[in-house]
Amino acid sequence: MAAPDKKTRSEYDKLKAEIELHNRRYHGEDSPSITDAEFDRLFARLIDIEKGFPELVTPDSPSQRVGATPSKKFEPVQHRIPMLSLQKVTTVEEFAEFDRRVKSGLEVEDDVEYVVEPKLDGLAVELVYENGLLVLGSTRGDGATGETITPNLKTIRNIPLKLSSKTARKYPLLEVRGEVIMRVSAFEKLNQRLEAEGIAPLANPRNGAAGSLRQKDSTVTAGRPLMFFAYGISDSSLDGVGSQSEAMKLLETEHFAINEHITTAVGVEAVEREFLRLAQIRPDLDYEIDGMVVKVDRFADQQVLGQISRAPRWAVAWKFAAELAETTIEGVEFSVGRTGAVTPVAKLKPVRVSGVTVSNASLHNEDELNRLDIHTGDRVVVRRAGDVIPEVVEVIDRKKYGKLSRILFPNTCPSCGQPIARPEGEAAHRCINVACPAQVEAGLFHFASKGGFDIDGLGDKLARQLIDNKLVSDPADLFFLSKDDLLPLDLMAEKRAHNLIEAIDRSRKADLPRIVYALGIIGVGETAARLLAEHFGRWQALVAASIEEMENIAGVGPVIARNIAEFLANDGNRKMLDKMRKGGVLFPDYKSAAASGGLSGKTFVITGTLSKPRNHFKNLILERGGKVTGSVSKATDYLLCGADAGSKRAKADKLGVEIISEEELQALL
Ligand code: IVH
Repeated sequence: MAAPDKKTRSEYDKLKAEIELHNRRYHGEDSPSITDAEFDRLFARLIDIEKGFPELVTPDSPSQRVGATPSKKFEPVQHRIPMLSLQKVTTVEEFAEFDRRVKSGLEVEDDVEYVVEPKLDGLAVELVYENGLLVLGSTRGDGATGETITPNLKTIRNIPLKLSSKTARKYPLLEVRGEVIMRVSAFEKLNQRLEAEGIAPLANPRNGAAGSLRQKDSTVTAGRPLMFFAYGISDSSLDGVGSQSEAMKLLETEHFAINEHITTAVGVEAVEREFLRLAQIRPDLDYEIDGMVVKVDRFADQQVLGQISRAPRWAVAWKFAAELAETTIEGVEFSVGRTGAVTPVAKLKPVRVSGVTVSNASLHNEDELNRLDIHTGDRVVVRRAGDVIPEVVEVIDRKKYGKLSRILFPNTCPSCGQPIARPEGEAAHRCINVACPAQVEAGLFHFASKGGFDIDGLGDKLARQLIDNKLVSDPADLFFLSKDDLLPLDLMAEKRAHNLIEAIDRSRKADLPRIVYALGIIGVGETAARLLAEHFGRWQALVAASIEEMENIAGVGPVIARNIAEFLANDGNRKMLDKMRKGGVLFPDYKSAAASGGLSGKTFVITGTLSKPRNHFKNLILERGGKVTGSVSKATDYLLCGADAGSKRAKADKLGVEIISEEELQALL
């Protein structure tokens, strides 16, 4: 094949730059300057050239943004410089307190110059540019170790794949940090699409961003409307970058999207003004923010202030308080939970509160219902804080509707019609009919949830369908379902049925903590379930245990112990457990990672220069039940290898012993 001539080469380079410019305009800035058809023409020409001259294709070509072949897992990666978290304040007094600590740390009396930025509600990521090329993208993870999601991040059109050659020369290593977000409008569109396809909608834009990024198949990510806002660089000692504002300027010239509401403020009052301004414009933004991040601008000052544990002393998150909104009560429904508790739920005229449209709010219980004295048509204040279920705070305007519209607590279960009771000393009413369809449905949903059998695709809607169609009367029936049972259901396509059956099959291997949690025994959350599994190790041992033995486990206690004993003594429950076993649930013995020594039987040798003393790694291995010896032999399973390794590495190579890095050891652990 002929080599590309100079003209083609230069056309190709121009095309790449032009397409990237339009990618930014369209996906980042929302201000396209050419039509879609024109864009498609440019792109087609690029692909044409690449087909003719594959040697031209570089990792920074826009053609590389479509996603790569699915990966099995996300490789863990250590951040060279940890990604810190932030201390939080919610009032101006608390912020003033932070400001005083900063001043005393810097030993200054004059007001400090801060950079103030919206606190974006998405997913934090790091982008590593080596010699100007994007070589690695990862999630924040726990701050020290994240997950590699490079192909996924490359699909985000406003993330530069390449830096200018000037910057690449000056900073051969540049680590850029920021937030991946989904715009609210894009989120709403995506949810409409998902619902039309019968796929569970995403809870909110943040989950939308996180879920889209953590796709094994990056072509899925490529189809999701994500964007990236840069908010910093990892290293505050780069030549020529002396402050946060200078870092942002550098990033801006490199075409990173910088949030338009970032500004500087000197002193507490100015920061507070910015906070109030941000709170005011928040409802109009097309992305979610949950507060403001305030950073001491000068890097030299940041270094003086340092950090405490995992948060810097030079920055703080000033979060918005829970948000309130006014709306109208359209009615009240009574929902029955997994444990039979009946909760009044206010049906609201939909209203946006802190970025989310709310149409239901909890009224908690009868006492609360009476306290508020709720009527249909009442004008009320609702509150939403974080992920907590929204609630009605107060009634602000009541029309005179007469007695009839007053909402009263029912005497019978809204699902099964049996009488409901309010046990002595409890605030909740309960339906005590264990066969109550609403309870069975909620129990089924819980059984299949993430912390339980983790049956992907079994949401509340499907749980209801399975019960209504008499395919399932208790969770154990799930293990007897076939694809043919599912296909006649509403919105059930071949593929979905297939996936569901596969997910059920995988779940038969669920470990003991999941099984114990999934049963939905009152008070047994994920923590108690794990403690019980760790203590007993085997299902049979748990079943045979006395109340005394259970209540003596730290973190379990007498109430939970009695609930478990009652659950296990119940005939119906025993039958169901039996059915689960017949349905193929394995009830495997449980050994926690630490107790079982995940590395037991494995022999390690350590060599080369590592980031910490060898003893540190030796202890990690020993703690997990592994062995560490001094020389490589055929019996060696792994050589943990740092920089400048010599003869041991050569010997391991010769014997075919697996050579692993610190990161890989971390993954094994
Ligand atoms: S700076 C030490 N700036 O907040 C500096 N973080 O607790 C730490 N976040 O999950 C990060 N907007 O993703 C910074 N403008 C902003 C931010 C921001 C959102 C998130 C970040 C992380 C959390 C830090």
